[in-house]
Amino acid sequence: MAQTIGFIGGGNMASAIIKGLIQQEIYSPSNIFASALSERSVDRLKNQFAINSSQSNEFIVKNSDIIVLAVKPYLVFKIIDEIKSVLKTEQIVISIASGITLKKLNHAMPEQRVYRAMPNTPASVNMGMTSICTTLNPNETSRTLVAQIFEAIGKTAWIDESLMHAAIAVHGSSPAYAFVMIEAMADAAVLEGMPRDKAYIMAAQSLLGAAQMVLDSGLHPGVLKDQVTSPGGNTIKAIAVLEEDGFRSSIIRAMHAAAEKSREMEANN
Ligand SMILES: NC(=O)c1ccc[n+]([C@@H]2O[C@H](COP(=O)([O-])OP(=O)(O)OC[C@H]3O[C@@H](n4cnc5c(N)ncnc54)[C@H](OP(=O)(O)O)[C@@H]3O)[C@@H](O)[C@H]2O)c1
Repeated sequence: MAQTIGFIGGGNMASAIIKGLIQQEIYSPSNIFASALSERSVDRLKNQFAINSSQSNEFIVKNSDIIVLAVKPYLVFKIIDEIKSVLKTEQIVISIASGITLKKLNHAMPEQRVYRAMPNTPASVNMGMTSICTTLNPNETSRTLVAQIFEAIGKTAWIDESLMHAAIAVHGSSPAYAFVMIEAMADAAVLEGMPRDKAYIMAAQSLLGAAQMVLDSGLHPGVLKDQVTSPGGNTIKAIAVLEEDGFRSSIIRAMHAAAEKSREMEANN
């Protein structure tokens, strides 16, 4: 029998994952279940993806081999309490909620195989990055099933849970840093007379291309930078200004702040 997957919470992140799973034919719509609070969201999930959607979390748990907790962090333990009586022993549960530790999840669901994953919003265009961790043994067979879900929406990395704050800083929050950089680059191009619509495409495509070069070439980013900075040229002039203005240290400090905030949120959850 085919595996079934159920999402408790059918918002932005669950929808991005569902889209990827269907597009990559990892699960057929009939094997996907999702719940939401409002009837409106339940209807949207049904109409958009032709999946089984419901306002009943119990219905999702009863029909799914793998359950993804995709509600806001403050609701996670309330939901676990609600579904506890219908959860089956050894059922696979993945939490994507920020700041909710494996220790607390395992404590709340001691009989289940529990995973914690941190995807990011580029998942919606199949360019996501997801860090995954678990306290289960490295030979645990369900690891492959869990990785397959997130590989449908981009790249994955298995990490130790202690690195989750770094993961949040480097790929959870970083799409926002990139959006700010694209906006700033486009503003500068507009200042030079470029029409704004063209400026956004140029800035975004350049960042996308540079990122792809890092991934495809395996070269150190510094080597790639050296390759495009001719002596006395315009690129090295720009880099000198970026360095003068603390571009590099500003990014490091910003990411450290994101990781610190993540630690603080985890302590308060
Ligand atoms: N967005 C991101 O970039 C991102 C990245 C990594 C991890 N996460 C994590 O993913 C989780 C979901 O985030 P999101 O951005 O997808 O949030 P979201 O768009 O607000 O979605 C939350 C969903 O939960 C549903 N819901 C609320 N109460 C419920 C209940 N009692 N039972 C069942 N469903 C319920 C909501 O239903 P309605 O639609 O009816 O309101 C909505 O569909 C969060 O824990 C977040 O930390 C998000």
